[in-house]
Amino acid sequence: MEEDMTENISKILSEIDTENLPVHIGIIMDGNGRWAKQRGLPRHLGHQEGMKKVVQIVEACNEIEINNLTLYAFSTENWKRPSIEVEALMNLLVVFVRKELQRLHENNVKIKILGDISKLPEVPLREVHRAVELTSDNSGMTLNIALNYGGRQEITKAVIDILTDVNKGNINIDGIDEKTISEYLYTKGQPDPDLIIRPSGELRLSNFLIYQAAYSEFWFSDVLWPDFNANHLYRAIVDYQKRNRRFGGI
Ligand code: IPE
Ligand code: IPE
Ligand code: MG
Repeated sequence: MEEDMTENISKILSEIDTENLPVHIGIIMDGNGRWAKQRGLPRHLGHQEGMKKVVQIVEACNEIEINNLTLYAFSTENWKRPSIEVEALMNLLVVFVRKELQRLHENNVKIKILGDISKLPEVPLREVHRAVELTSDNSGMTLNIALNYGGRQEITKAVIDILTDVNKGNINIDGIDEKTISEYLYTKGQPDPDLIIRPSGELRLSNFLIYQAAYSEFWFSDVLWPDFNANHLYRAIVDYQKRNRRFGGI
C-alpha cells in the first residue's frame, strides 16, 4: 500500500486492465484537517487544498472511463463540528461550483447529490441545484457528491418512503426485496461501489454507503486527501484488480 507514489503515471496506467475496471468507485475524502495541522495552518486551508483535488481526481477517473464516482464531501455527523468550520465547508462548496462546474460540464460529467440537501444553507443549496440541473442531460461519468449524507439516514428515509408507498397502495409488501431497497436509496439506478478508497489512515466507513458497500473492495492509504493524486487512484485500481471477489461463492 505504501509504495512510492512518485512513480510514472503512464507506467501505472499501463498496468490497469481496461477490461476489469471498477464500474463505481467511492472515495472518502479525509485528512484535510491533519494536512493543515502538519503545516501549522487553519483547518479551512486544508479543506481548500482538498477541494482542489476533486477536479483532478474526477478527470483521472474520466480518463480511464470510470462510470460512477462517489465523493464523500460532508456527512450527517459533520454538523457536530464548530460552526466556523461548517461555514467554511459550505462556502467552499459554493466556490467549487462557481469555479469548476463549467469544466465538469465540458467533460460531459453528470452531477448527482446523495444526501438530504434540504438542510443546506440557501446559497450552497442554490449552487448545488444549478450544478445538478446544468449537467442532468450529460451522458458521461456520473459524479455523485455525498452531501449531508449518512448511510443510516439514507436507510431510515428508504424505510419511511417504502412504508408510505405501501400505505398508498403503490407497492405491495410481498413484492419488497433487496432490489426494492436499492431503488429507494439515493443511489437508485446505479451499481454498487466496486471499490471504496479512504485516505488519511482511518480504517472505517464513517457511515458511507453502508448498504451499497456489502461486497465492495476497500483500499486504504495513510496519504492525506490534499496529497492524494491520480497515481494513488490508479494504484488503488491496480490493487483492486488483483483481488479475488467471491461474493460468497468459491
Ligand atoms: C475531511 O477532512 C473533510 C470533511 C470531513 C468534511 P477532515 O476535516 O475530516 O480532516 P481530518 O480527519 O480532521 O484530518
Ligand atoms: C468522513 O470523515 C466524512 C467525510 C470525509 C465527508 P470524518 O472525518 O467525518 O470521519 P470520522 O469522524 O473520522 O469517522
Ligand atoms: Mg476526518
